[in-house]
Amino acid sequence: MVLSESEGAVLVDVEEVTYAYNRIRVLDGISLKIRTGDFLAIIGPNGSGKTTLIKIMLGLLKPQTGRIRLFEKTLGRFTDWGKIGYVPQKATHFDTVFPISVKEVVSLGLTAAGRGMSSKNKADVLVREALARVEMEEFLSHRIGTLSSGQQQRVFIARAIVSHPSILILDEPTTGVDAGMQERFFSILGKLHREENMTIVMITHEVGILDKHFNRVACLNQKLIYHGRHDEFCRSDEFKKMIADGKHVISHTH
Ligand SMILES: Nc1ncnc2c1ncn2[C@@H]1O[C@H](COP(=O)(O)OP(=O)(O)O)[C@@H](O)[C@H]1O
Ligand SMILES: [Mg+2]
Repeated sequence: MVLSESEGAVLVDVEEVTYAYNRIRVLDGISLKIRTGDFLAIIGPNGSGKTTLIKIMLGLLKPQTGRIRLFEKTLGRFTDWGKIGYVPQKATHFDTVFPISVKEVVSLGLTAAGRGMSSKNKADVLVREALARVEMEEFLSHRIGTLSSGQQQRVFIARAIVSHPSILILDEPTTGVDAGMQERFFSILGKLHREENMTIVMITHEVGILDKHFNRVACLNQKLIYHGRHDEFCRSDEFKKMIADGKHVISHTH
């Protein structure tokens, strides 16, 4: 069944959020609902506040004004973090030279979700399953630092989905990943979306790939410039303006 845009349950509700770093405002009056079934692209120029908005949604930064609700609970009362998977921007990942195995990296996702206490066998099964879902099971005992950037990124997704979250949030996951690997990457995410009913939110610069994969677009530049269906976005004045400006987003749309 295809959900129309207003039907899905609201998983993340951002209301009138404003944020400034040292009095420099980077987000201004942002209101946005993310619903079950969304495969949402968050786009916008560098420095437009995309990462900041995600961090606010996850309670990692506290907005000066506005409020966040997660799964219909105010952020302060929300404790079910296993329902939310997060793959941060690459620069913030830990040192990949650190001698830690793929299995250990993915296990960290269980600890983060408060499931570190489940039996070792259960944990092993969950870790193997998560790696299978990103097509990386054969790398279970490899050191993370020996993998390619695209493979590492899939391991970080496995870490984020090991607790079977309802929503997966990724911050520019395909940066530095070659084109062939990007397709594989999107097919993995598409499968999570279709077959596990996972809601997916991705910050990306690649507007051209929106066509095939995303059903919703949010375009940010301090304010929320556009939020709606992807096909309507491509016909919108906002999109035409961006393409005309050239510098705002990279477009591969034909
Ligand atoms: N910790 C910080 N301290 C001060 N300024 C910051 C900090 N993090 C981000 N900024 C600034 O806030 C703006 C928005 O950043 P960010 O949310 O990372 O944008 P995006 O993810 O869209 O590139 C940028 O101008 C950035 O330089
Ligand atoms: Mg960013």
